[in-house]
Amino acid sequence: MSITDLACRRVQELTPYQSARRIGGVGRVYLNANESPEGIKFDLDSSSYNRYPECQPPELIQAYADYIGVNPGHILVARGSDEVIGLLCRTFCEPGKDSILICPPTYGMYSIAAETNGIATIKVQPKDNFQPDLPAVFRSLKENSVKVLFLCSPNNPTGTIIERDLLIEILKETAGKTLVVVDEAYIEFSPNDSCTDLLNEYSHLVVTRTLSKAFGLAGLRCGFALADPEIIGLLLKVIDPYPICAPVAQVATAALDPENICVMQKRVDELNRIRNSFLERCKTLKCVTDSFDCNGNYVLLKFKDGEKLFEGAKKAGFILRDFNDKPMLKNCVRITVGSRAEMDDLFTFMKEHDE
Ligand SMILES: Cc1ncc(COP(=O)(O)O)c(C=O)c1O
Repeated sequence: MSITDLACRRVQELTPYQSARRIGGVGRVYLNANESPEGIKFDLDSSSYNRYPECQPPELIQAYADYIGVNPGHILVARGSDEVIGLLCRTFCEPGKDSILICPPTYGMYSIAAETNGIATIKVQPKDNFQPDLPAVFRSLKENSVKVLFLCSPNNPTGTIIERDLLIEILKETAGKTLVVVDEAYIEFSPNDSCTDLLNEYSHLVVTRTLSKAFGLAGLRCGFALADPEIIGLLLKVIDPYPICAPVAQVATAALDPENICVMQKRVDELNRIRNSFLERCKTLKCVTDSFDCNGNYVLLKFKDGEKLFEGAKKAGFILRDFNDKPMLKNCVRITVGSRAEMDDLFTFMKEHDE
């Protein structure tokens, strides 16, 4: 028997999440992981690194509570929102029995987190405008033991913001039966569309957030769940004892002080301006046949020949993200909004190869 044969069958069969880092690709300009184009410097005090950190560093929880305007008891901090997604699956779904529901194309980690834990993923195709198809979702909820419904707003990769009326209909229909998770990883780029104000009204709503995108701290690994204290208490039973390293807590807390929040908001405004001007210029190109909603730090474009654009850009040193094989996204390529110079550079390349 080989070592691989000893592993769980579901792990043997698993295709891991194809993160930008895992896919790799060497280039000059990286626009494939929806990261911030610039890093930020923070000072660290290492004098207490001899001690284990708090599981939920109180000053970090308080700083996030102040930023969002919710009570600290409604917040859990974890190693990125990816960890929160895994925790939700493990806490609420019985392996081999329960399932999660998603409306793809959407962020890939929901189904991977489920699969890794022996939980099935029910996929319900959205409508043509990428809003959830409510009758189909509700039918599916009736037919299956769905414990967690994952929605992403703005959706990665389509940029779609879930319509508030639809979300409220979903919340009403699922109360007492299914947890509704709204992944707001990119919400700082579209701050008026957050649904955190619904947390008080719907105790089965969970909002996930991250410092990886607008805050420019993807390398830090720091994300949050916002939810009813009862849900937070259950997640805390499952989380590892020390998920947040001491330096992570220090940097994250500093990133959330009011001055740095202002810096973040200025960066977001500038990235939104760069995104909008890049998109408008792209719409004039012959090779671009369609564009999608833009509410995050990325642009999804449909090309006459997506693979040609993607491969051509790669050869020229621009690493983008190909979505050609994803449902409803034939010939689509997602482009992270980088610095103004990077986007000008990429546009020049696209214009020179426009046909
Ligand atoms: C929609 C969405 N949610 C969550 C994540 C993961 O965020 P984190 O870095 O906090 O794990 C990503 C990363 O690309 C994302 O696109």
